[in-house]
Amino acid sequence: MRVLSGITASGVPHLGNYFGAIRQHVALQDVASEALYFIADYHSMTSVRDAALRREYVKTQVLDYLACGLDPERAILFRQSDVSEVCELEWILSTVTPMGLLERSHAYKDKIAQGAAMDHGLFAYPVLMAADILLYNADLVPVGQDQKQHLEMTRDIATKFNLTYGQVFTLPEPQILDDVAVVPGIDGRKMSKSYGNTIRMFDPEKAIQKAVMAIVTDSTPVAEPKDPGAVVFQLWNLFASADERREMAERAKRGGLGYGDVKKDLLKRLLAYFGPMRERRAALERAPDIVEEVLDQGARRARRLAAPVLEAARNLAGLGIPPRPI
Ligand code: ADP
Ligand code: TRP
Repeated sequence: MRVLSGITASGVPHLGNYFGAIRQHVALQDVASEALYFIADYHSMTSVRDAALRREYVKTQVLDYLACGLDPERAILFRQSDVSEVCELEWILSTVTPMGLLERSHAYKDKIAQGAAMDHGLFAYPVLMAADILLYNADLVPVGQDQKQHLEMTRDIATKFNLTYGQVFTLPEPQILDDVAVVPGIDGRKMSKSYGNTIRMFDPEKAIQKAVMAIVTDSTPVAEPKDPGAVVFQLWNLFASADERREMAERAKRGGLGYGDVKKDLLKRLLAYFGPMRERRAALERAPDIVEEVLDQGARRARRLAAPVLEAARNLAGLGIPPRPI
Protein backbone atom coordinates (compact mmCIF):
# COMPACT_ATOMS: atom_id res chain seq x y z
CA MET A 1 0.00 0.00 0.00
CA ARG A 2 1.45 3.34 -1.07
CA VAL A 3 0.51 6.32 1.12
CA LEU A 4 0.91 9.94 0.02
CA SER A 5 0.01 13.32 1.43
CA GLY A 6 1.07 16.93 1.15
CA ILE A 7 1.05 20.02 3.33
CA THR A 8 1.02 23.47 1.77
CA ALA A 9 3.98 25.66 2.68
CA SER A 10 1.84 28.61 3.66
CA GLY A 11 2.70 29.20 7.31
CA VAL A 12 4.11 27.80 10.53
CA PRO A 13 2.56 24.46 11.61
CA HIS A 14 0.26 24.47 14.64
CA LEU A 15 -1.62 22.07 16.93
CA GLY A 16 -4.36 21.60 14.30
CA ASN A 17 -1.81 20.49 11.72
CA TYR A 18 -0.13 18.20 14.24
CA PHE A 19 -3.23 16.41 15.54
CA GLY A 20 -5.07 16.58 12.20
CA ALA A 21 -2.24 15.53 9.89
CA ILE A 22 1.41 15.26 10.99
CA ARG A 23 0.78 12.72 13.76
CA GLN A 24 -1.05 10.36 11.36
CA HIS A 25 1.61 10.82 8.70
CA VAL A 26 4.28 9.74 11.18
CA ALA A 27 2.21 6.73 12.29
CA LEU A 28 1.59 5.61 8.69
CA GLN A 29 5.31 5.46 7.87
CA ASP A 30 5.42 2.19 9.82
CA VAL A 31 2.52 0.46 8.06
CA ALA A 32 2.76 1.63 4.44
CA SER A 33 5.04 -0.12 1.96
CA GLU A 34 5.93 3.39 0.81
CA ALA A 35 4.97 6.64 2.52
CA LEU A 36 5.48 9.83 0.54
CA TYR A 37 5.02 13.25 2.09
CA PHE A 38 5.77 16.48 0.35
CA ILE A 39 5.78 20.17 1.08
CA ALA A 40 3.48 21.71 -1.50
CA ASP A 41 5.43 24.81 -2.46
CA TYR A 42 3.86 25.06 -5.93
CA HIS A 43 0.46 25.10 -4.24
CA SER A 44 1.61 27.78 -1.80
CA MET A 45 2.09 30.13 -4.79
CA THR A 46 -1.66 30.68 -4.87
CA SER A 47 -1.46 32.45 -1.51
CA VAL A 48 2.17 33.33 -0.65
CA ARG A 49 3.78 35.86 -3.00
CA ASP A 50 7.03 36.34 -1.10
CA ALA A 51 9.85 34.06 -2.33
CA ALA A 52 11.97 34.25 0.84
CA LEU A 53 8.96 33.52 3.00
CA ARG A 54 8.08 30.47 0.92
CA ARG A 55 11.59 29.04 1.42
CA GLU A 56 11.30 29.76 5.14
CA TYR A 57 7.96 27.93 5.37
CA VAL A 58 9.37 24.91 3.52
CA LYS A 59 12.30 24.73 5.92
CA THR A 60 10.05 25.10 8.96
CA GLN A 61 7.74 22.38 7.73
CA VAL A 62 10.62 19.95 7.15
CA LEU A 63 12.12 20.64 10.59
CA ASP A 64 8.72 20.18 12.21
CA TYR A 65 8.10 16.87 10.42
CA LEU A 66 11.50 15.55 11.48
CA ALA A 67 11.08 16.80 15.05
CA CYS A 68 7.66 15.09 15.22
CA GLY A 69 9.23 11.75 14.37
CA LEU A 70 9.14 11.45 10.60
CA ASP A 71 12.06 9.22 9.65
CA PRO A 72 13.45 10.24 6.25
CA GLU A 73 14.92 6.77 5.79
CA ARG A 74 11.51 5.14 6.02
CA ALA A 75 9.23 7.86 4.62
CA ILE A 76 10.07 9.82 1.48
CA LEU A 77 9.98 13.51 2.40
CA PHE A 78 10.35 15.87 -0.53
CA ARG A 79 9.67 19.32 -1.88
CA GLN A 80 6.95 19.35 -4.54
CA SER A 81 8.91 21.67 -6.85
CA ASP A 82 11.95 19.35 -6.86
CA VAL A 83 9.95 16.91 -8.97
CA SER A 84 8.83 19.40 -11.61
CA GLU A 85 7.52 16.50 -13.73
CA VAL A 86 4.33 17.05 -11.75
CA CYS A 87 3.72 20.18 -13.84
CA GLU A 88 3.86 18.18 -17.04
CA LEU A 89 1.35 15.74 -15.65
CA GLU A 90 -0.82 18.63 -14.54
CA TRP A 91 -0.98 19.84 -18.15
CA ILE A 92 -1.80 16.38 -19.46
CA LEU A 93 -4.57 15.98 -16.87
CA SER A 94 -5.92 19.48 -17.46
CA THR A 95 -6.82 18.47 -21.00
CA VAL A 96 -9.23 15.81 -19.71
CA THR A 97 -10.62 17.91 -16.84
CA PRO A 98 -14.07 19.39 -17.54
CA MET A 99 -14.43 23.07 -16.62
CA GLY A 100 -17.65 22.18 -14.81
CA LEU A 101 -15.77 19.91 -12.42
CA LEU A 102 -13.50 22.76 -11.33
CA GLU A 103 -16.39 25.22 -11.16
CA ARG A 104 -18.13 22.95 -8.65
CA SER A 105 -15.12 23.05 -6.28
CA HIS A 106 -16.09 24.25 -2.77
CA ALA A 107 -12.75 26.03 -2.39
CA TYR A 108 -13.33 27.88 -5.66
CA LYS A 109 -16.93 28.79 -4.79
CA ASP A 110 -15.82 30.02 -1.34
CA LYS A 111 -13.19 32.26 -2.88
CA ILE A 112 -15.71 33.68 -5.34
CA ALA A 113 -18.19 34.28 -2.50
CA GLN A 114 -15.49 36.14 -0.55
CA GLY A 115 -14.97 38.33 -3.59
CA ALA A 116 -11.35 37.17 -3.93
CA ALA A 117 -9.54 37.90 -7.19
CA MET A 118 -9.30 34.54 -8.94
CA ASP A 119 -6.23 33.63 -10.92
CA HIS A 120 -5.81 30.59 -13.09
CA GLY A 121 -3.54 28.88 -10.53
CA LEU A 122 -6.23 28.97 -7.88
CA PHE A 123 -8.82 27.67 -10.33
CA ALA A 124 -6.52 24.85 -11.47
CA TYR A 125 -5.42 24.00 -7.91
CA PRO A 126 -7.32 20.67 -7.89
CA VAL A 127 -5.68 19.55 -11.15
CA LEU A 128 -2.21 20.06 -9.67
CA MET A 129 -3.35 18.16 -6.61
CA ALA A 130 -4.58 15.32 -8.82
CA ALA A 131 -1.19 15.28 -10.54
CA ASP A 132 0.55 15.12 -7.12
CA ILE A 133 -1.36 11.99 -6.25
CA LEU A 134 -1.52 10.22 -9.62
CA LEU A 135 2.16 10.78 -10.46
CA TYR A 136 3.07 8.38 -7.65
CA ASN A 137 0.15 5.97 -8.13
CA ALA A 138 -0.78 6.46 -4.47
CA ASP A 139 -3.33 4.03 -3.01
CA LEU A 140 -4.19 5.93 0.15
CA VAL A 141 -4.24 9.67 0.81
CA PRO A 142 -4.67 10.73 4.45
CA VAL A 143 -6.21 14.21 4.53
CA GLY A 144 -8.57 16.35 6.54
CA GLN A 145 -12.30 16.55 5.78
CA ASP A 146 -11.71 19.80 3.88
CA GLN A 147 -9.76 17.90 1.19
CA LYS A 148 -12.38 15.23 0.53
CA GLN A 149 -13.75 16.89 -2.59
CA HIS A 150 -10.25 17.26 -4.04
CA LEU A 151 -9.83 13.49 -3.72
CA GLU A 152 -13.14 12.87 -5.51
CA MET A 153 -11.98 15.18 -8.31
CA THR A 154 -8.70 13.27 -8.51
CA ARG A 155 -10.57 10.02 -8.99
CA ASP A 156 -12.78 11.60 -11.69
CA ILE A 157 -9.78 13.00 -13.55
CA ALA A 158 -7.89 9.68 -13.35
CA THR A 159 -10.91 7.79 -14.65
CA LYS A 160 -11.29 10.22 -17.54
CA PHE A 161 -7.65 9.78 -18.57
CA ASN A 162 -7.79 5.99 -18.22
CA LEU A 163 -10.92 5.83 -20.39
CA THR A 164 -9.54 8.23 -23.00
CA TYR A 165 -6.01 6.87 -23.44
CA GLY A 166 -5.69 3.62 -21.53
CA GLN A 167 -5.31 2.32 -18.03
CA VAL A 168 -2.40 3.91 -16.22
CA PHE A 169 -3.58 5.65 -13.06
CA THR A 170 -4.54 4.01 -9.78
CA LEU A 171 -7.73 5.43 -8.24
CA PRO A 172 -6.67 6.66 -4.79
CA GLU A 173 -8.74 6.15 -1.65
CA PRO A 174 -8.98 9.05 0.77
CA GLN A 175 -8.38 8.38 4.44
CA ILE A 176 -10.37 11.09 6.13
CA LEU A 177 -8.95 11.87 9.51
CA ASP A 178 -12.07 12.65 11.44
CA ASP A 179 -11.23 10.76 14.61
CA VAL A 180 -9.64 13.96 15.83
CA ALA A 181 -12.47 16.36 15.15
CA VAL A 182 -11.38 19.80 14.09
CA VAL A 183 -8.95 21.33 16.58
CA PRO A 184 -10.37 24.71 17.62
CA GLY A 185 -8.25 27.83 17.58
CA ILE A 186 -7.86 30.15 20.58
CA ASP A 187 -10.83 32.20 19.31
CA GLY A 188 -13.09 29.14 18.97
CA ARG A 189 -13.08 28.97 15.16
CA LYS A 190 -11.16 26.17 13.40
CA MET A 191 -7.47 26.58 14.21
CA SER A 192 -5.94 27.84 10.99
CA LYS A 193 -2.88 29.72 9.82
CA SER A 194 -5.17 32.05 7.91
CA TYR A 195 -7.16 33.07 11.04
CA GLY A 196 -4.20 34.00 13.23
CA ASN A 197 -5.70 31.90 16.04
CA THR A 198 -3.08 29.20 16.31
CA ILE A 199 -0.98 27.66 19.05
CA ARG A 200 2.37 26.82 17.49
CA MET A 201 4.07 23.98 19.29
CA PHE A 202 7.59 25.02 18.30
CA ASP A 203 7.30 28.69 19.23
CA PRO A 204 9.31 29.98 22.21
CA GLU A 205 7.70 29.00 25.53
CA LYS A 206 6.64 32.57 26.26
CA ALA A 207 4.71 32.80 22.99
CA ILE A 208 2.96 29.48 23.65
CA GLN A 209 2.05 30.67 27.13
CA LYS A 210 0.62 33.88 25.71
CA ALA A 211 -1.50 31.96 23.18
CA VAL A 212 -2.80 29.51 25.80
CA MET A 213 -3.72 32.32 28.19
CA ALA A 214 -5.58 34.04 25.33
CA ILE A 215 -7.94 31.10 24.71
CA VAL A 216 -11.49 32.47 24.75
CA THR A 217 -13.61 31.72 27.80
CA ASP A 218 -16.96 33.04 28.94
CA SER A 219 -17.45 34.99 32.13
CA THR A 220 -18.91 32.13 34.22
CA PRO A 221 -17.70 32.69 37.83
CA VAL A 222 -15.32 30.07 39.25
CA ALA A 223 -17.95 28.56 41.55
CA GLU A 224 -20.49 28.02 38.73
CA PRO A 225 -20.73 24.87 36.53
CA LYS A 226 -18.87 25.09 33.20
CA ASP A 227 -19.62 23.65 29.76
CA PRO A 228 -17.21 20.72 29.31
CA GLY A 229 -17.38 21.38 25.55
CA ALA A 230 -15.79 24.85 25.91
CA VAL A 231 -12.76 25.54 23.72
CA VAL A 232 -10.29 25.37 26.60
CA PHE A 233 -11.51 21.85 27.52
CA GLN A 234 -11.41 20.71 23.89
CA LEU A 235 -7.76 21.73 23.73
CA TRP A 236 -6.97 20.27 27.15
CA ASN A 237 -8.52 16.96 26.01
CA LEU A 238 -5.87 16.60 23.31
CA PHE A 239 -3.32 15.97 26.06
CA ALA A 240 -5.39 13.80 28.38
CA SER A 241 -6.34 10.12 28.63
CA ALA A 242 -9.99 9.00 28.31
CA ASP A 243 -10.24 8.67 32.11
CA GLU A 244 -8.78 12.11 32.69
CA ARG A 245 -11.22 13.61 30.19
CA ARG A 246 -14.20 12.06 31.93
CA GLU A 247 -12.96 13.30 35.28
CA MET A 248 -12.37 16.81 33.93
CA ALA A 249 -15.87 16.91 32.42
CA GLU A 250 -17.33 15.97 35.82
CA ARG A 251 -15.30 18.67 37.57
CA ALA A 252 -16.41 21.24 35.00
CA LYS A 253 -20.06 20.39 35.50
CA ARG A 254 -19.72 20.46 39.29
CA GLY A 255 -18.42 24.05 39.40
CA GLY A 256 -15.53 25.39 41.46
CA LEU A 257 -13.07 25.02 38.61
CA GLY A 258 -11.42 28.18 37.25
CA TYR A 259 -10.59 28.51 33.55
CA GLY A 260 -7.21 29.97 34.54
CA ASP A 261 -6.24 26.75 36.31
CA VAL A 262 -7.27 24.65 33.32
CA LYS A 263 -5.16 26.85 31.06
CA LYS A 264 -2.14 26.50 33.36
CA ASP A 265 -2.51 22.73 33.35
CA LEU A 266 -2.99 22.71 29.58
CA LEU A 267 0.25 24.69 29.18
CA LYS A 268 2.10 22.26 31.43
CA ARG A 269 0.82 19.23 29.52
CA LEU A 270 1.46 20.80 26.13
CA LEU A 271 5.07 21.63 27.01
CA ALA A 272 5.62 18.14 28.45
CA TYR A 273 4.08 16.48 25.37
CA PHE A 274 6.12 18.47 22.87
CA GLY A 275 9.23 18.75 25.11
CA PRO A 276 11.23 15.93 23.49
CA MET A 277 10.16 17.09 20.02
CA ARG A 278 11.16 20.67 20.82
CA GLU A 279 14.60 19.43 21.91
CA ARG A 280 14.97 17.37 18.76
CA ARG A 281 13.98 20.36 16.67
CA ALA A 282 16.50 22.62 18.39
CA ALA A 283 19.25 20.06 17.67
CA LEU A 284 18.16 19.76 14.03
CA GLU A 285 18.28 23.53 13.65
CA ARG A 286 21.93 23.46 14.66
CA ALA A 287 22.70 21.10 11.74
CA PRO A 288 22.40 23.64 8.92
CA ASP A 289 22.50 21.25 5.94
CA ILE A 290 20.05 18.68 7.22
CA VAL A 291 16.95 20.13 5.55
CA GLU A 292 18.45 20.23 2.07
CA GLU A 293 20.06 16.80 2.51
CA VAL A 294 16.75 15.24 3.47
CA LEU A 295 14.92 16.98 0.62
CA ASP A 296 17.57 16.03 -1.91
CA GLN A 297 17.40 12.36 -0.97
CA GLY A 298 13.59 12.53 -0.90
CA ALA A 299 13.40 14.08 -4.36
CA ARG A 300 15.63 11.40 -5.83
CA ARG A 301 13.52 8.60 -4.39
CA ALA A 302 10.26 10.31 -5.39
CA ARG A 303 11.48 10.87 -8.94
CA ARG A 304 12.32 7.17 -9.31
CA LEU A 305 8.72 6.27 -8.45
CA ALA A 306 7.27 8.99 -10.68
CA ALA A 307 9.31 8.29 -13.82
CA PRO A 308 7.61 5.07 -15.02
CA VAL A 309 4.13 6.49 -14.36
CA LEU A 310 4.76 9.67 -16.33
CA GLU A 311 6.44 7.69 -19.10
CA ALA A 312 3.42 5.42 -19.39
CA ALA A 313 1.02 8.38 -19.48
CA ARG A 314 3.13 10.14 -22.15
CA ASN A 315 3.28 7.02 -24.30
CA LEU A 316 -0.43 6.36 -24.08
CA ALA A 317 -1.16 9.98 -24.97
CA GLY A 318 1.21 9.82 -27.97
CA LEU A 319 3.76 12.28 -26.63
CA GLY A 320 7.53 12.22 -27.17
CA ILE A 321 9.64 9.67 -29.01
CA PRO A 322 7.48 6.66 -29.95
CA PRO A 323 8.35 3.53 -27.95
CA ARG A 324 10.21 0.89 -30.03
CA PRO A 325 8.10 -2.12 -30.93
CA ILE A 326 9.35 -5.22 -29.09
P1 ADP B 1 -4.32 25.69 7.65
O1 ADP B 1 -5.83 25.69 7.71
O2 ADP B 1 -3.72 26.09 8.95
O3 ADP B 1 -3.79 26.51 6.49
P2 ADP B 1 -3.61 23.44 6.01
O4 ADP B 1 -4.75 23.71 5.08
O5 ADP B 1 -2.22 23.68 5.51
O6 ADP B 1 -3.86 24.20 7.41
O7 ADP B 1 -3.73 21.93 6.49
C1 ADP B 1 -2.70 20.98 6.57
C2 ADP B 1 -3.28 19.71 7.18
O8 ADP B 1 -3.64 19.96 8.56
C3 ADP B 1 -4.55 19.22 6.48
O9 ADP B 1 -4.53 17.79 6.41
C4 ADP B 1 -5.68 19.71 7.39
O10 ADP B 1 -6.81 18.88 7.31
C5 ADP B 1 -5.02 19.65 8.78
N1 ADP B 1 -5.60 20.69 9.66
C6 ADP B 1 -5.44 22.03 9.53
N2 ADP B 1 -6.09 22.70 10.52
C7 ADP B 1 -6.67 21.75 11.30
C8 ADP B 1 -7.48 21.81 12.49
N3 ADP B 1 -7.79 22.96 13.07
N4 ADP B 1 -7.90 20.63 13.02
C9 ADP B 1 -7.58 19.45 12.44
N5 ADP B 1 -6.81 19.33 11.32
C10 ADP B 1 -6.36 20.46 10.75
N1 TRP C 1 -4.36 20.85 -0.70
C1 TRP C 1 -3.78 20.22 0.46
C2 TRP C 1 -4.06 21.10 1.73
O1 TRP C 1 -4.30 22.28 1.60
C3 TRP C 1 -2.29 20.04 0.31
C4 TRP C 1 -1.99 19.12 -0.83
C5 TRP C 1 -1.48 19.45 -2.05
C6 TRP C 1 -2.21 17.70 -0.85
N2 TRP C 1 -1.34 18.34 -2.82
C7 TRP C 1 -1.79 17.26 -2.13
C8 TRP C 1 -2.73 16.81 0.08
C9 TRP C 1 -1.87 15.90 -2.49
C10 TRP C 1 -2.81 15.44 -0.28
C11 TRP C 1 -2.38 15.01 -1.56
O2 TRP C 1 -4.02 20.58 2.84
